[in-house]
Amino acid sequence: MSSKLIAPSVLAADFANLQRDVEMINKSEADWFHIDIMDGVFVPNISFGMPVLRDIVKHASKTIDVHLMIVDPDRYIKTFADLGSNILTVHYEACTHLHRTLQAIKAEGMKAGVAINPHTNVSLLEDTIKDIDLVCIMSVNPGFGGQSFIENTYKKVKQLKEIIDRNNASTLIEIDGGVTNKNAKQLVDAGADVLVAGSYVFKSQDPIQTIQGLKELIS
Ligand code: DX5
Ligand code: ZN
Repeated sequence: MSSKLIAPSVLAADFANLQRDVEMINKSEADWFHIDIMDGVFVPNISFGMPVLRDIVKHASKTIDVHLMIVDPDRYIKTFADLGSNILTVHYEACTHLHRTLQAIKAEGMKAGVAINPHTNVSLLEDTIKDIDLVCIMSVNPGFGGQSFIENTYKKVKQLKEIIDRNNASTLIEIDGGVTNKNAKQLVDAGADVLVAGSYVFKSQDPIQTIQGLKELIS
């Protein structure tokens, strides 16, 4: 039995058949729903917002993992809690007072995540690691699905794992971007706990089978 998790990214779903795709994830061996919220400012793309998340939550039967790619995320912490988010991840690069933001997320009853862009060194999290439930290492530049995996990610996972262990923290490491059957096992071997997969799952012939394949690879 593996404790490693798969989180399909709904960004790659068919938005005209959203209920069908949400139910597919419910039925599959996936563990979480990964939800990408983009504001067109922090990243050069706009995804979807609250009404769509509300409808996803209505049908979803698994953990809701929300990845905010927005500036000034503090403004929306309560909103995302009220919508039913279980994990709320903000970007390190978007937070001036990260420690305060993490406390605010937890005060709303959610797990607190921090995402870091490919250029952000994991050592910057050393002083807050005990307060972080999940670190999302971006293995592509955020903003779009379907990009290629950045190989430097393996090194970052190992460095972050060291920081977590050294501080006796229980932070989960999530990898987001370009995850496929080609890198899943190596990521988990390096220390990753949660793999987000968008295009690889949704653009495949049989997404349920693809998710099962990923689970088998990492167990
Ligand atoms: C990128 C998003 C990712 C994306 C992953 O900005 O944060 O979650 O949906 O998609 P794939 O797996 O296609 O790279
Ligand atoms: Zn994401």
